[in-house]
Amino acid sequence: MLGTGGTIAGRASSPDDLSGYVAGQVGVADLVRDIPALAGGAVEVEQVAQIDSKDMDLGVWQALVERIAHHLARPDVVGVVVTHGTDTIEETAYLLQSVLKPRKPVVLTCAMRPATALAPDGPQNLNDAVLLARCAGAQGVVVVCAARVHGALDIAKTHTYQVDAFDSGDAGPVGTVEHGQVRLFRPWPGAGDTGEGMVDETTVKRFLKATRLPRVEIVLSHAAADGLMVRCLLEHGLNSSPAPLQGLVVAGTGNGTVHRSLLSVLEDAMTAGVRVVRSTRCARGQVSADKTGIPDSDGLSPLKARLALMLDLLKG
Ligand code: SIN
Repeated sequence: MLGTGGTIAGRASSPDDLSGYVAGQVGVADLVRDIPALAGGAVEVEQVAQIDSKDMDLGVWQALVERIAHHLARPDVVGVVVTHGTDTIEETAYLLQSVLKPRKPVVLTCAMRPATALAPDGPQNLNDAVLLARCAGAQGVVVVCAARVHGALDIAKTHTYQVDAFDSGDAGPVGTVEHGQVRLFRPWPGAGDTGEGMVDETTVKRFLKATRLPRVEIVLSHAAADGLMVRCLLEHGLNSSPAPLQGLVVAGTGNGTVHRSLLSVLEDAMTAGVRVVRSTRCARGQVSADKTGIPDSDGLSPLKARLALMLDLLKG
């Protein structure tokens, strides 16, 4: 069980305060106390970070990847649970799946109410996460929240405060946890080709060696877009040290279409050697190939397309 902070570890001054709390206050060792699914089984607890997940950064991601890879390689470990804030859990889940491609389960969980709430949702989510991590045949990175199990590729936070704040779009959740039982709707996320190991050693090593993430910015296409943001990025970002602009993800309208004024500046960006990817502002559906010559995001949201491009640039 690896703790990183979040609302699940949040503390407020009164039990009815569900918004004025501070995230990342309660240690993971305290969170796991009295979780019924842990009774009778062995659990090891490690505090990897204690942050509000809006502040997630490369250092915490690297620490997580290193600790998860370490524990999954142990024959006595069946799976890893990570407690995390809801705000960037979809990014961490995607990153962990892409870097680790684990052959054992890595279950991220979270809460929308702080640990001090009258009726906190964290303890139930943690209980469900432990059941999932111990589930025979489980593999890959999933997120469990409000009894629904989401795959790392599909999950998106879609609500600002409700306890069931996540959605898996067209793919739907991987399954649910009902009455203490895991019910699968589709297979566990693919583990990928990890050879003999429990994780993809090559990708893990490359990610752990990175001293910074390649700069990939997200820009939005909208009515009356004029491309000024991209022009500024080209003017100031191409030579910015230590992280020059290397990529842009455009969150396009509908099927990834881009305002003509923005499109012409994106073409300038590509001419200047910046990699550009088209995704969509829409919550559902995926962008298909078009005539712009800008590659589509292969079904990924702008946030995940950004990470995919960063990880690809790290290879170079
Ligand atoms: C966070 O993401 O760390 C704070 C918000 C939350 O966990 O719901």
